[in-house]
This record gives sequence, C-alpha cells and structure tokens, in this order.
Amino acid sequence: MRAIIPAQELQLSSHVLDAIPGDKSISHRAAILGSLADNVSRFSHFLRSEDCMNTLRIVACLGAVVTWEPNGELRIEGQGLTGFSKPESWLDVGNSGTGIRLLTGVLAAQPFQTRVAGDESISKRPMRRVVDPLMKMGADISGELRDGEICPPLLVKPVSQLTGIEWNMPVASAQVKSALLLAGLWATGEVSILSPGVSRDHTERMLKYYGVDVITSGFDVYMQGGQRPHNPNPDAVLRIPADVSSAMFFIVLGAILGPDRLKDGMRLNGIGVNPTRVAGLAILDAMNADITRVYDDAPALEPISDLEINASDLENVTVSLEQVPNAIDEFPILAVAALFADGDFIVRGAAELRVKESDRIDGIVRMVRAVGGEIEEYDDGFKISGPLENPRDFAFDAHHDHRLAMSAIVLALGAGVKADVDGCESIATSFPNFFDILTDIGVSL
Ligand code: S3P
Repeated sequence: MRAIIPAQELQLSSHVLDAIPGDKSISHRAAILGSLADNVSRFSHFLRSEDCMNTLRIVACLGAVVTWEPNGELRIEGQGLTGFSKPESWLDVGNSGTGIRLLTGVLAAQPFQTRVAGDESISKRPMRRVVDPLMKMGADISGELRDGEICPPLLVKPVSQLTGIEWNMPVASAQVKSALLLAGLWATGEVSILSPGVSRDHTERMLKYYGVDVITSGFDVYMQGGQRPHNPNPDAVLRIPADVSSAMFFIVLGAILGPDRLKDGMRLNGIGVNPTRVAGLAILDAMNADITRVYDDAPALEPISDLEINASDLENVTVSLEQVPNAIDEFPILAVAALFADGDFIVRGAAELRVKESDRIDGIVRMVRAVGGEIEEYDDGFKISGPLENPRDFAFDAHHDHRLAMSAIVLALGAGVKADVDGCESIATSFPNFFDILTDIGVSL
C-alpha cells in the first residue's frame, strides 16, 4: 500500500494524544503467559495489531480460550503447562519475529509436532539464535538452511524432556532470553542466561507477576525450571501500557516541528516507561529534546507515564554502544530527528538493524538520501550530518517495514515536503491507528 503525503505546513497546539496503542512486546507476552497460566487473566489495551493478533490466534489454536469483553478487555483462560493440544494446521506468525521466537520456546516443550512459519520477511529472519540454545536444552527443531542460517518455516518435534542450560548470548536479545525462559518452564534444572548488555525485561516482569521466581543479576537472568505460572489475582485487569516505540513517532514529530509549528506542547498519555525501553527517549533527551514526564504511575505489570513534548533545538550526538540494544527499534525515527539537528548523529555497533523486519541501515540510508540529507553508511551503523538544508519531495519504498514507513511519513511532515511512501500496509503490524491519529492532529492525507 502506498501513502501519498501532500506537502503541508503542519501546526500543532496543545494536542493530547490518548490513543497510542498498547505495547507490542508486552501484548505478545500477555497472550503467551496468559495462555500458560492455570487460571484466567484479563488485560486492557492489548495491542490489536496484526503481529499480536497472530500470536493470540496461535495460543487459541493451541487451546487457550480467548474472549473479548464488550469494553475491549481481553480475557484469556490459560490451560496450564500441560493443557495445550496439537493444532489442526501449521501456525502462522505473519510478520512477527517476536512471535515466532517466543513461541518456538513454548512449542519446543509440547508433546506434539508443530510447524511454524510466516510471511516472506519472516522466512528470511535468522532463527539460529533461538534454535541452537533450545536444541542444547534437548529440543528438536529444524528449519530452512539459508547461507548457514536457520530460517522459518520451523518444524518443532516433541521430545521427552527439556533440560536447563547456561547460555552466553553473544548479542543482548530479549527475544532469545524470552524463548529460553519460556522453554525453561518445562525444563529440569536451571536456566541461566548471561548477556553482554541490557535488553527489554518484559518477560521477567510478567513471569514474576505470575509467581515464577526469576532472579536477575546485572544483565544476567536465572530461573529454576519446572515452575508453573499462576495469576495471583484473576479478577484484576492488567493494564498494558501504550507502546513507547510507537509513541516515538509522535514525540519526534513534536520535537522537529520547531516553535513556530508546535505551540504549547503536545501530550502523550499512558506511555510505558520501563527503564529497559527508554534509551530512545534518553537519546532524544541528550539531543536537547524538551520531553517531560508529567505523571508517573506504577500499575501491576509495568511503569507508565504521561509525556509532554515541547518544541526543541536539537543537537546531534554519538549514541553509546550500551544504548544500542535498548534503543534498537527506535533508530529509523531517531534518524529523522537527526536530520533536524545540528552536527553529526553517529550510531555504531548496531549490525542487528540489518536483520530486523528489513535491513534498516539500508532503509535509513535510502530514506535520508531520498529527502536530500547527508548520511554515511557503515556495516554496523550510520552517520547523519544535520541539519537537512534543502529538503525535497521524495519517494521511498519501506520494504514492508512498519517502522521505516512511519519514519518516512514523519520526515515528510517535519520537512514540509510531499512523500510517496510504499509498503505502508506494514504499519498495521504494530500501529493500526497510525493514520487515524495523523488525521486527528490535522494532517492532510
Ligand atoms: C523484542 C525485542 C527486540 C526488538 C523487537 C521486540 C521483544 O529484539 O527489536 O522489536 O519483544 O522481545 P531483540 O531480541 O534483538 O532484543
């Protein structure tokens, strides 16, 4: 799907955004852990995007009873660790790397065979990072071999017993950590996951909520196998915060509009501010963006805050290596912010970007050059020299990558140029109401 964004002088004034949708990472985990608990769970603000709905459909195919309440709350009747049964057909994760990696951890422990696959982009995503450690735990998983990588479709066969593991992750990855912790629920012995850096900790938090004893020490995580998730309060409605990675598109939009076009700030409500997710905000803060937490809350699962953004005089920075895994999803939109800032924005140590929904380093380079910006490409990152002086109308193919598509649209709005962005159907994987919010704040589409 192509979106044509006409050239326009967007002006915002005291806008309040209440509709940033629920967190994608947390929604996947809610679907999975809700279905593995031995009782009922209720969630509000579950993200009804293609990715998370695929995960929800899959746990339903495996036996979880999923219902939507009239008020939009999600109710999952978990089946416990022994309640799943063989699905009638193969399992389709669509475009979701998180879905396939986390679910593979669960499927590895089931007493029946499954085949799990997705769209064309998924069939190129590297799975060795979860398959190797799961095989070391005793799982039986095979996939398509592509240049030494294991790619979907994955065939997961039953084994009699998984065992614990001590796994040294070469790259900090929440998806790998989560797949091993989930498989560990069925394992004998201990699962120890050692990490070179921080990665999002939603799985650990949710496991703890469900009574599973998970110990964290620095970046490392330890869990005794064989623990059964149980919802301590099945009547409570667990609130899934709004996705900070989705909020970033509007935060950056606010930051780049400048004082003439953003009056009296913009407010985004109920945003998840888990410390393992906010490196993107910290980078913007270091770039001088005027972002304030105006109200903090700590409901059962995850911390949330309302954020206020005011027009900012941005300056570019070098992103530290430690911030990279924590901000990994934010680089396409941070690249847009960098185009409106003085100096050099430098990202290194981010080769992971090449194996996300698309090669995001290539996508960022194409996007910046298309609008007339200056960028140097590295194997593991890029350098943008700002500010963008003579922006031009541009056409951009997002290669079916939601974050690239949304970034290109924000770029067009910030620069006041016309953009023709292909691949926008992908936006539905994480942000189904993105265009509705644009319309609400006055964007002409
Ligand atoms: C995710 C983890 C991240 C992130 C992805 C979602 C998750 O990947 O890029 O969009 O929900 O666990 P890593 O596995 O590289 O941390």
